[in-house]
Amino acid sequence: MHYAHGYLGASFFSPLANQRTDQYGGSVDNRVRFHLEALDAVRAVWPEKYPLTMRLGSDDLHPAGTQFEDSIHAIGKMKEHGLDLADLSLGFNTDDMVDPPFNDVGFMVQRAHRVRSEVGIPVDTSWNLGVPQNADRVIREELIDLVMLGRPALANPHWPIWAARELGHASPFSLVQQDWRWWLENFRGHGPSIGWPEVAAAGGGDADAPTHDSANEPLHAEAARRSA
Ligand SMILES: Cc1cc2nc3c(=O)[nH]c(=O)nc-3n(C[C@H](O)[C@H](O)[C@H](O)COP(=O)(O)O)c2cc1C
Repeated sequence: MHYAHGYLGASFFSPLANQRTDQYGGSVDNRVRFHLEALDAVRAVWPEKYPLTMRLGSDDLHPAGTQFEDSIHAIGKMKEHGLDLADLSLGFNTDDMVDPPFNDVGFMVQRAHRVRSEVGIPVDTSWNLGVPQNADRVIREELIDLVMLGRPALANPHWPIWAARELGHASPFSLVQQDWRWWLENFRGHGPSIGWPEVAAAGGGDADAPTHDSANEPLHAEAARRSA
């Protein structure tokens, strides 16, 4: 369910967009009414074996827009209506954002982690997690449950394979389908000859070793400062 980025659900949720005076506007409980009704309708026909997930524009970064505290409350309600996982993103209901953190590594991680601990629901987020060590770390430290990728996947559609290799997976090509794997591992030279430079971690390196210090360090401090 897409409730972010100015789409219909976001237009109901954000006070910047929602000017209604009926039961779908005003208080946060009114502004989340549309989402809960839509969840009920989908949950009724959605197979139990598949996760029902939702992306929320959880912060407009604007004093008159969606506030993150309201998002925590709303996701709690959505959990009661059968939501399985919350994807935390921004609202994008205005270009007039205050201090947007677009250059900060993992700037939504701390917010997502708050939802995880305060609502008790699995969470994911995207936003500047394309360095494999950072993506790995936010999972290992149980800050979030799933990492989403946007631009890193555009830049490198095989990002998961590359990341596995960067993190020391002994046989990253075993993660692709068999007919690709064979060519990647066996056909007349591999590794550097196909544009995959050797990495120190390949073949049993220490996956926990932080190798991108400059990218790693701000992950908590910056995110915590902004969500404080
Ligand atoms: C070309 C492009 C198209 C996107 N389209 C959507 C979209 O339709 N819906 C959406 O929720 N996010 C969209 N996004 C945002 C991404 O889902 C993602 O949240 C954002 O790029 C931040 O993650 P990243 O740092 O991994 O790129 C788009 C991003 C890009 C670069």
